[in-house]
Amino acid sequence: MTISIIGHGYVGLVTACVFADFGNDVWVIGHTKEKIDRLRKGDPIIYEPGLGELLQKNIKAKRLHFSVNYDSIAGSEIVFITVGTPPKENGEADLSAVFEVARNIAKNLSDSKKHFTIVSCKSTVPVGTNKKVEAILSKHSSKNAKFSIASCPEFLREGTAIHDTINADRVVIGSNSKRAIDVLLKLHESINGKRVITDLASAELIKYISNAMLATKISFANLVSFFAEKVNADVEDVLDAVGLDKRIGRIFMNPGVGYGGSCLPKDVMALIDVGKKLNVESNFLTEIEHINLFAKKNFVNKILKNSPGKKVAIWGLAFKPNTDDIRFAPSIYIIEELLKEGFSISVYDQEASNNIKKIFADKIRYASSAYECLQGANSLIILTEWNEFKQINLDKVKKMIKDPVIFDGRNIYDPMTVRKLGFKYYSVGRP
Ligand SMILES: NC(=O)c1ccc[n+]([C@@H]2O[C@H](COP(=O)([O-])OP(=O)(O)OC[C@H]3O[C@@H](n4cnc5c(N)ncnc54)[C@H](O)[C@@H]3O)[C@@H](O)[C@H]2O)c1
Repeated sequence: MTISIIGHGYVGLVTACVFADFGNDVWVIGHTKEKIDRLRKGDPIIYEPGLGELLQKNIKAKRLHFSVNYDSIAGSEIVFITVGTPPKENGEADLSAVFEVARNIAKNLSDSKKHFTIVSCKSTVPVGTNKKVEAILSKHSSKNAKFSIASCPEFLREGTAIHDTINADRVVIGSNSKRAIDVLLKLHESINGKRVITDLASAELIKYISNAMLATKISFANLVSFFAEKVNADVEDVLDAVGLDKRIGRIFMNPGVGYGGSCLPKDVMALIDVGKKLNVESNFLTEIEHINLFAKKNFVNKILKNSPGKKVAIWGLAFKPNTDDIRFAPSIYIIEELLKEGFSISVYDQEASNNIKKIFADKIRYASSAYECLQGANSLIILTEWNEFKQINLDKVKKMIKDPVIFDGRNIYDPMTVRKLGFKYYSVGRP
């Protein structure tokens, strides 16, 4: 098939590379010439494991093309919208990019009698958005253009995005057009995962509810950690045992410094906003956010109370391992709070330092290795559970750091082991 993908971020570029790799002819459309030029040369711009190789392979095979104009739309059977839907100040999803792109698509839809185009939104958008996209397409396209819309929400996880795209838990297709559903099912033939065929509104809602549930699991685990800290219990043991109940499960019940990233925070905010507009009682969602904020505050308080000095080393800045994405990363809040308290901070992250530099510039020091980061520090703070920290030589850490104090926001070490090595060790919800 020939497909066009608007946007080349974590969703757009991964989707483009995977479908190109399955033999489709894929056009990626962006709005920044400099980025499109870099992509053409095989530079993925973002960090996602395996993406560079897949990009270069498919450029070489001439199945992947990049452009700043919308010419490819006329020859495409499917057009995916994958642009960002960031939160506005009030939490509402900002859909301006989606609507701008829809107008551009409309103007370039083929009006040939033989051509039919499926326009499908992969961006996470509130219920009703696809209907608005359909109205924009009708208004701005030639009256002979034939098209149908579909909602194909995306569920990939940054860090394992290629694997998740190929081995999806589910492929959701929401449309009232049988033709659109058939074409999208055909495109997804090589993708694993259960097919869920539904209407537009349900497809849109499925994505928000999935992310709200994931945020709930993390906030619930953090709530348990607050109890555990008060009564000197071990949150990991509690959750391990609770999770053995098959109705509950343990997966994604991760206590720590809270959820971040480009999806959970903004999608919970957007769902709260939709709830207000629809008059749905959704205080439950607001509490998920409160707990998430409190998890970060609680962790900062632990540092303020227990750090022997005001020089700290931070390991991990990305909102999770295997990505360079720092959107809504807990590290941003924690660095801001420590700077306010007059701390001097050095940071290390194998992929996300350059992105953090755009926020904090010369207010903090950027180390080139985990060990170098420790020089002169009174304590070590761990905010992202990158593999390289899990089995690091803690004897060497102890020699390099000024005071042997660790604040572990991701519970990556065994408390007994670290204490035996002579560290003071503060983690989340563990005695
Ligand atoms: N990142 C994830 O893990 C993930 C997972 C599932 C769903 N989503 C959803 O997918 C959407 C995209 O997320 P992302 O993480 O890929 O975002 P991103 O910020 O990485 O990428 C967005 C892309 O849209 C492009 N863009 C923005 N405005 C544009 C315009 N007017 N014209 C053309 N291109 C434009 C940007 O240049 C960029 O390439 C969001 O709605 C997000 O919620 C993201």
